[in-house]
Amino acid sequence: MAMFETAKKRAELTNSGVIDARTLENSHKRLREIIKPGTTILDVGCGTGAMTYGIAKVVGTEGMVVGIDNNPVLIDKAREKYKDIPGLSFKEGDVYNLPFSNKFDVVTSARLLQWLAQPKEALINMVRATKVGGKVIVLDYNHEKIKWDPEVPESMKSFYGAFLRWRLESGMDNTIADKLSGMFNEIGLEEVTISSQHEKTNREDKDFQTHMSIWSGVALTRGKQMVDEGFIKEEQRKMAEHDYRAWIEAEAKSQFMYLLAVEGIKI
Ligand SMILES: C[S@@+](CC[C@H](N)C(=O)[O-])C[C@H]1O[C@@H](n2cnc3c(N)ncnc32)[C@H](O)[C@@H]1O
Repeated sequence: MAMFETAKKRAELTNSGVIDARTLENSHKRLREIIKPGTTILDVGCGTGAMTYGIAKVVGTEGMVVGIDNNPVLIDKAREKYKDIPGLSFKEGDVYNLPFSNKFDVVTSARLLQWLAQPKEALINMVRATKVGGKVIVLDYNHEKIKWDPEVPESMKSFYGAFLRWRLESGMDNTIADKLSGMFNEIGLEEVTISSQHEKTNREDKDFQTHMSIWSGVALTRGKQMVDEGFIKEEQRKMAEHDYRAWIEAEAKSQFMYLLAVEGIKI
């Protein structure tokens, strides 16, 4: 299978629990700072629309927000959950083929480019959808900079390593966050700025379990895909999931996920 198609298949989201729990305020803070009533926004890779809904509440009836995602199941869920919100609509579509030109004040993607084999192509399409003088803002991870305290069990460490290799093999960039500002400059965006948006969670936090369970979720969903593709054995997957859950219960103190928001102006 060509790299592009492999990435497309591997990126497909089969469980939306983690993304459903996100809000604009807690999961795309830099975007929250720059939008205001009246702004028009395109949210690419919107998933089930939890953050897109948050955007609609801020921009209000003078503004307009479109959420777009290539997964029709997620778009159906978003439409069902957020129907009748003025100025908010959802559309099935692909970031490589956005049906907009010079249309939005702000075009954003959160945690999308990490799943693509051709992130620069995607970015060029996002720029096309942005008005001259408008802003493109991308939020994404560097998965190589994750930190757990104390270290996760060996089975999870080895699963995580295999997960990163599985992603890399299909052309995805595990370090995309640190490549974004270079890409923004290369394609001619101006006033490129970077904000740290790292996700840190400590045992005392009330949503500690939700944040930590991202990796048991990955072991369950992406792990199954990796087993089906012969990348790891089911026993390894199961052990990683089991040991990691036990580690959260008994030992985990904190997790740090490296996340940057990069923004630039279209001239
Ligand atoms: C990790 S989720 C992020 C969802 C949400 N933006 C968030 O931050 O919670 C990535 C989303 O990108 C979507 N996606 C993946 N490839 C895509 C593509 N080529 N075009 C549009 N959406 C895509 C997936 O269906 C998924 O909903």
